[in-house]
Amino acid sequence: MSSIKDKIDLNKVPQHVAIIMDGNGRWAKKRNKDRIFGHREGVNSAKAVVEAAGELGIKYLTLYAFSSENWSRPKEEVEALMSLLVQGIRDELDNFIEKNIRIQVIGDLSKLQTEVRQAVEESIEKTKNNAALNVVIALSYGSRDEIVHAVREIARKVKEGDLDIEDITQNTVSEHLYTSEIPDPDFLIRTSGEQRISNFLLWQISYTELYFTPILWPDFKKEEFFDAIYNYQQRERRFGKISEQLSK
Ligand code: IPE
Ligand code: IPE
Ligand code: MG
Repeated sequence: MSSIKDKIDLNKVPQHVAIIMDGNGRWAKKRNKDRIFGHREGVNSAKAVVEAAGELGIKYLTLYAFSSENWSRPKEEVEALMSLLVQGIRDELDNFIEKNIRIQVIGDLSKLQTEVRQAVEESIEKTKNNAALNVVIALSYGSRDEIVHAVREIARKVKEGDLDIEDITQNTVSEHLYTSEIPDPDFLIRTSGEQRISNFLLWQISYTELYFTPILWPDFKKEEFFDAIYNYQQRERRFGKISEQLSK
């Protein structure tokens, strides 16, 4: 079977793809199931996309798994999401090691239950020397919280005399975010038809290409990911310049 994958130029894949994995609840509702059923299938989509990103040689894949605002959901749903996460990470750990995948996490981990934090920390520790694909899980993540955290760190350094105000640059801000060692996303995908950012990577996406698809996350598998990457490759990123200035 021919695939859109064959049309993708492997020399021009985005270095970093970020995904807002949305629409699990609506997918389940359409099938008269409860929301957790949608989250469970959503885990399979995450696995598929990790595999697809690996096949294309993408270096960084950031998955928005749970936002700081998602703590306000019903308790049973939060618990189900956390246990799916722990189970998913445990089930996949050997696969990550075998495929040379490094797990990183961004977010406020202090809010997580001990069991969840331990599972996350174990996967980070056991994959820390891997280098093929970096899977960054945004967990208990909120971009405004992240920026506040960075501002506090910078202010502390100024107060203690370790940093001169005049030396604060864009790099200083970037270096104090959770993503300090991760390049900015080239491409951001949001599923489920919503066209909003929902407090995700606000600083980091200032020049990211955005892609919104009506497909619900549980229906988003490898082919849909390849479609999105192909779409990215048809775009011209100008970064404020004009077309003629870009080296082809
Ligand atoms: C995304 O699906 C998963 C998380 C936000 C954790 P939703 O649960 O938001 O599904 P919808 O948007 O209600 O359909
Ligand atoms: C964004 O989805 C967060 C994640 C996908 C983890 P939400 O479903 O929480 O976003 P809103 O509330 O509809 O903006
Ligand atoms: Mg949603």
